[in-house]
Amino acid sequence: MINPAELHVLRTALERLEEGFADLPRFTPEFDVDVVTDVLQQVSVRMQDNYPYYHPLYAGQMLKPPHPVARIAYALSLWINPNNHALDGGRASSAMEKECISELGRMFGWEAPLGHLAGGGTMANLEALWIASRLHPGKRVVASEQAHYTHARLCDVLGIPFSAIRCSPTGHMDLAHLDELLDRYGSLPDEAENLLEVIRLKSRARRLGISAIDLAKGEIVLTAADQSQVDPQRLLDLLHQAGSGLRVAPDRKIYARAPRGDAAQLFAAARSLLANLGAA
Ligand SMILES: Cc1ncc(COP(=O)(O)O)c(C=O)c1O
Repeated sequence: MINPAELHVLRTALERLEEGFADLPRFTPEFDVDVVTDVLQQVSVRMQDNYPYYHPLYAGQMLKPPHPVARIAYALSLWINPNNHALDGGRASSAMEKECISELGRMFGWEAPLGHLAGGGTMANLEALWIASRLHPGKRVVASEQAHYTHARLCDVLGIPFSAIRCSPTGHMDLAHLDELLDRYGSLPDEAENLLEVIRLKSRARRLGISAIDLAKGEIVLTAADQSQVDPQRLLDLLHQAGSGLRVAPDRKIYARAPRGDAAQLFAAARSLLANLGAA
């Protein structure tokens, strides 16, 4: 459970941190070592009454301890305990927060993202829903009934109308129920419509035994699962069709040329590819 290297890395990082304050009069906070040791011994025993989330043999749920770098960095920061609410509360950590936002934004293709780090999922959802309700006043939020419960609860807190979309026993959204809600409450913003189109495509692909549908280097890439329902005859016909741009690789991947155009053209090409392969 405990990798001693982590404690070593933390110690050397703390020593380096301390060097930056060496010109100050020496000050080491005192505490009652015996009392703290005793309390922590008791807490450690009580904490044994948990499932071993860190262990690879434990797969009961998604809880996992943070990566060593995250917990070492967190512990390191607690010796200073900065607060990014204003620059005087955390100059260095505010600068690092901005760098982090830029890098996270770049992952989504944004050139100049504006944002901040939230203290956790509940706060992140609260802020996102609040912003959404300001940008689209009066709009309803719909989310899978399998979505984290903060979505429904925070919509309630913020006074945003909310509807849950039913799910199948395997946890997939019931798209007919979603269409029913859209019919009743109105259309989606373009970004959400695109996301929904992705879900529809994945659902059609899944019924055909296609486990993944991706876009890479100008091609639509389908990955056929072991029990693929793709009709081999249809596939052969497509491969022989002049100009179909289709090719098949031994790793169960089917590649098709993707049109150069907007999202709607791309979705249409993926839909027609799945239909040609036999999707309902
Ligand atoms: C999607 C989602 N939202 C919100 C939360 C709540 O996060 P936190 O406990 O950090 O507030 C979680 C936690 O698992 C989550 O998975």
